[in-house]
Amino acid sequence: MQVIILENPEQVAQHASKWVVELISKKAKPVLGLATGSTPISLYKNLVRSHQEDQIDFSHVTSFNLDEYHNIDAENEQSYCAFMKDNLFDKINIDQRNTHLPTCNKHENPRTQGLAFEEKIQHAGGIDLQILGIGANGHIGFNEPSSSLSSRTRLKTLTKQTLQDNSRLFKADEYQPTMAMTMGISTILDAEYVLLMATGDNKAKAVNEMISGPLSAKCPASALQLHEHAIVVLDKAAASELTNQDYFIWANAEHQKINNTYGFFL
Ligand code: PGA
Repeated sequence: MQVIILENPEQVAQHASKWVVELISKKAKPVLGLATGSTPISLYKNLVRSHQEDQIDFSHVTSFNLDEYHNIDAENEQSYCAFMKDNLFDKINIDQRNTHLPTCNKHENPRTQGLAFEEKIQHAGGIDLQILGIGANGHIGFNEPSSSLSSRTRLKTLTKQTLQDNSRLFKADEYQPTMAMTMGISTILDAEYVLLMATGDNKAKAVNEMISGPLSAKCPASALQLHEHAIVVLDKAAASELTNQDYFIWANAEHQKINNTYGFFL
């Protein structure tokens, strides 16, 4: 696991956007895995700026989002589809026919929907770079604690903590879905590279368990310990409970030299 500790959330977003821009500039048919939530918003702002100011082209990009609420219309402003349009897709030149979310409506079978989503990812050649956030409870996507480490895209019931954490985004009288379709942990581990962003001290405990704790369904993000190319980009607050910070800061300075010479990707 490559752990990069930066000063503040802005630097985390800038660093993550460099990975995305390098990938889409290098590959003929890049496949991005995308995330929602507060953390990636500044990454998306950077990508929009790269498109507008540096003419970075997204027309050849395919994307797959980690998750979507169960039984929600794409037009509903609380849907992750609307989030992605507002924050990214409507502001860059991606072909929106090539953007995919794991949707499941009331009269659709979540099992066949999950399978179809997995098949679409395979058909696109697999995900090159999956962007992730982390929940305060260690979840990735909506793989809540106790999720099977070999799970695939499926319907999950959200925990009380996740519902509470996300309630800030809903108005008092607004319906907050309690279930979501989410890529499974195995789906995420299949990506060629994963890049997890975490900022703020409310993530510090989960970040330490992910990096230094036991591999356990108690902290689903700890499954990234099994990934060959997992990059974790943290601000100082999110890194504050890491026991071996000095090592990561030193190792990253060494990595930086390699990245500057050879780029981020193989
Ligand atoms: P956040 O959510 O970016 O809004 O903190 C991250 C997550 O729950 O995965």
